[in-house]
Amino acid sequence: MSPVLSNRAGLKSLLRQVVLLPPLPQNGNVDHQTHWNSAYETKGDEVSWFEGEPTQSLRLIEQFAPAKHSLLDVGSGASWLLVRLAERGWSDLNALDVSSTALALLAERLGGHADVVTMVLADIRTFVAHRSYVTWHDRAVLHFLNRDDDRIAYAETVAASLQPGGVAIIGGFSPDGPTHCSGLEVRQSTSKEIASLFGERFTLLNAEIDTHITPQGNAQSFSWTVLRREETPRTSHC
Ligand SMILES: C[S@@+](CC[C@H](N)C(=O)[O-])C[C@H]1O[C@@H](n2cnc3c(N)ncnc32)[C@H](O)[C@@H]1O
Repeated sequence: MSPVLSNRAGLKSLLRQVVLLPPLPQNGNVDHQTHWNSAYETKGDEVSWFEGEPTQSLRLIEQFAPAKHSLLDVGSGASWLLVRLAERGWSDLNALDVSSTALALLAERLGGHADVVTMVLADIRTFVAHRSYVTWHDRAVLHFLNRDDDRIAYAETVAASLQPGGVAIIGGFSPDGPTHCSGLEVRQSTSKEIASLFGERFTLLNAEIDTHITPQGNAQSFSWTVLRREETPRTSHC
């Protein structure tokens, strides 16, 4: 079961819970934890994916999820996105990341908004949701899943976690974007490829390209895909 960190008890207690979490299952996750913890510890806000204002994500969320029901930010890192959503009145926000360092940094950023965010320390490749969400947001996580079986499992997880009518907003490097991020190889994708991965259970609502400028001044091309989870069609047999 994924360890869920409810930060209602306050920042101090939350940070204690992050530190005291049991190790994740031994399926390669520990290396990922070490890699990502080290990235946040050594670079802080100089990580290439840092953005002071998550403008593109906020715009798509406001356009396709205006009702503010519930949102899971997968691979949230220490992004300002959940802080900005909390400031806009969202009250059921969820952050998932494999890095406890990132979640601790996010908790600091949230400050007084910590009580509307539940934190989950988990690897998305093995995550099983114990509740459903209306909105799924992923900026630069799926693109690290290079293996077909991991990508198919990811799409299955989204299908199982999203309520019918809910939307998945996914951003990753486009074919003219970088081939690596944080020293890891990524799988560049078009929105058409992402829609094809998710299959008929989802309808493609929106596809666009956005350019992220890294703190070092480099331009990175992202392809953004918005998909709606449809009702699973009933099968009938005679
Ligand atoms: C490139 S960063 C993007 C962070 C954040 N979404 C943003 O836009 O600032 C990728 C994030 O995904 C997390 N991550 C990488 N692989 C993961 C996995 N398999 N499961 C969960 N989180 C993962 C990393 O710890 C990191 O915080």
